[in-house]
Amino acid sequence: MKAAIILASITGNTREAAEIICGFLEEAGVEPAMYTAEEFSVEQLEDLDLAVVATYTWGDGEIPNEMVPVFRAFEEGDTKGLVTGVTGTGDSFYPHFCGAVDRFRDMLYVQSLLAATLKIELSPQQKDRERCRKFVQSLLEKSEVNQAQPVKEKLPGAGCDMGFQH
Ligand SMILES: Cc1cc2nc3c(=O)[nH]c(=O)nc-3n(C[C@H](O)[C@H](O)[C@H](O)COP(=O)(O)O)c2cc1C
Repeated sequence: MKAAIILASITGNTREAAEIICGFLEEAGVEPAMYTAEEFSVEQLEDLDLAVVATYTWGDGEIPNEMVPVFRAFEEGDTKGLVTGVTGTGDSFYPHFCGAVDRFRDMLYVQSLLAATLKIELSPQQKDRERCRKFVQSLLEKSEVNQAQPVKEKLPGAGCDMGFQH
């Protein structure tokens, strides 16, 4: 499985969350490549089986500037078969807590096979490790279902709407 974590982090909170998630994926035998948003070349997106977006929130519930090309690549690319998850850290002092996660969630729900979202208050705490584990579990479950799909598609006449033909 080709997996990537694409992250934006200034003070390290989101990177910490991304590293926890990376660790749980590795425990499950998935070896994700980790990129910052600036490092990630958006052409790679369509080659992936699994993508995790990890982002802080900026301005008034906004996506950080460096994440905008990644957001657009999902919007414009052919990512309908890609399993995704979005996580982020934010500060509930702001009116729109983890607004960037919400924006990615709404878009990825349409543009990909969104498996899970996870919002974390500032730096991940012990209790957030379990939440990260469940996030990864949801990603893996969705990936399993997704990997079974092409087999079904290969079977002639396996679609529900084929009806009987004599
Ligand atoms: C100027 C500024 C604006 C912010 N706006 C929001 C916001 O609208 N919503 C939110 O949840 N957090 C907001 N934050 C908080 C950061 O998203 C939060 O500190 C996050 O954990 C930083 O992640 P990082 O350590 O990975 O850089 C803002 C922080 C700054 C400095």
